[in-house]
Amino acid sequence: MQIVILKNAAEVAAYGADIFTQQLARNPGSVLGLATGSTPVALYQELIRRNQAGTVSFSKAKTFNLDEYLGLNGEHPQSYRYFMNEQLFNHIDINKENTHVPPGDAKNPIEACKEYEARISAADGIDVQLLGIGRNGHIGFNEPSSGLTSRTRVKTLTKATIDDNARFFAADEYQPHLSITMGIGTILDARKVVLLATGENKADAVHAMIEGPLTAACPASALQMHRHAVIVLDEGAASKLKDIEFYKHIEAENQKLQEYLASL
Ligand code: F6R
Repeated sequence: MQIVILKNAAEVAAYGADIFTQQLARNPGSVLGLATGSTPVALYQELIRRNQAGTVSFSKAKTFNLDEYLGLNGEHPQSYRYFMNEQLFNHIDINKENTHVPPGDAKNPIEACKEYEARISAADGIDVQLLGIGRNGHIGFNEPSSGLTSRTRVKTLTKATIDDNARFFAADEYQPHLSITMGIGTILDARKVVLLATGENKADAVHAMIEGPLTAACPASALQMHRHAVIVLDEGAASKLKDIEFYKHIEAENQKLQEYLASL
């Protein structure tokens, strides 16, 4: 894992935006894996700003979102399709037909999960997958005890996740307890993954992901198996890491290596 520790959430968002900007510059037809939640919002705002300034284009890109609530259609304000339209797609030059979010209103959700996997394969897989992390270590809606090689499927949310996400729902509003989520195996198939985490409330999960054992009890620890996982943290999210100085040292050396390679 490449562990990047930055001062604050703004720097984390800019770093993440750079990764997507560079990816699209290298390959305008890239396949991007996207996430919802609070963490990526600042990154999406930065991508919108760059797109409107003409420094990045999504016109040939395809996207696949990690997850969706089962039982909500894309017009529901709490659905992740609605979130993506509002937070990103409506403001950039992407062709909406090239954007994919698991269908929360599928008549046959089990079949819909298989179709979602097939669509990702037909697009030749995901180039860069964006992730956040739950306080219980979940990625996508892969809650603790999720199979480490799992594929897109219907998943029950833990009470912790339901409580964490209750802030998005009105008190008397129906809040789904089920989701469709890419599996951990699906996420690990992405050629690169970029996980962003900000704030001290993520510090325990970040510590377990990076320094704990590989275990289904912390689904994000599966990223230890990925050949190109970039973990981008602010100081709060990094605050419980034991080897923080070592990670900063590796990053400094990595910068020097990049400069050396560029000079050859
Ligand atoms: C969202 C998702 C979730 C979130 C995680 C963190 O698509 O898959 O795993 O990334 O729950 O959420 P925030 O960013 O709201 O703390």
